[in-house]
Amino acid sequence: MLIVFIGPPGSGKGTQCKRLLDYLHIPHLSTGDLLREAKAKGTSLGQLASQYMDQGRLVPDPLVLTMVGEKLNEPEFADGCLFDGFPRTLQQARALDEALAKRGTPLDLVLELRASEDELIARMLRRSSAEQRADDNPQTIGHRLEVYRQQTAPLLDYYRFRGVLAVIDGMGTPDQVFQRIKTAVDSRRSKCH
Ligand code: AP5
Ligand code: MG
Repeated sequence: MLIVFIGPPGSGKGTQCKRLLDYLHIPHLSTGDLLREAKAKGTSLGQLASQYMDQGRLVPDPLVLTMVGEKLNEPEFADGCLFDGFPRTLQQARALDEALAKRGTPLDLVLELRASEDELIARMLRRSSAEQRADDNPQTIGHRLEVYRQQTAPLLDYYRFRGVLAVIDGMGTPDQVFQRIKTAVDSRRSKCH
């Protein structure tokens, strides 16, 4: 299965992808994790990307698309993938569709994780005291939320129109949210087979 997770920062994309990975045994592809890894290694991509990430801005599409394209060519992604934080712009969504059409493996499901803005902010601020993510500070969090509204939320209509979107209530405990995701995934799987 090919599943995309879309949701604002702090909505639980990473948390839920890890659970779904254990359930479906499909590899996880998080562009945020890949970019943070590149940044930690100090590669030229990482250095360039950090100028955007640290301010809560999107890394330019060509850089992200090259990175994802290379990853998708790896054999482990041949049969399925959980996309976390990608695509984030219409250009990325169209490029992904084209790449998947060439492989003959269209997207099965897009999960939109929703949570209130107060909850999103509270989660990221809680994380900021435990982990050192350069973008988990009040000013950058505000900007990330705005970028989501402006640049990523329009993708929801794109996928809704294609009939692959499922809206998931992301409030409650991680286990409660995961139960809702499982229901959506199982229902899609029963339609596919
Ligand atoms: P990215 O790494 O994707 O970050 P994000 O979208 O800002 O989202 P987060 O990772 O903060 O949140 P999440 O939804 O994964 O939630 P999580 O499970 O961690 O992107 C970072 C940056 O990289 C971007 O700003 C951009 O610059 C760049 N980038 C990445 N992809 C890009 C792309 N495609 N194009 C261009 N640029 C790109 O949960 C958050 C916290 O809450 C955790 O501490 C977790 O433990 C906790 N939590 C989770 N669920 C619950 C729950 N139900 N109850 C209580 N706490 C919970
Ligand atoms: Mg994440």
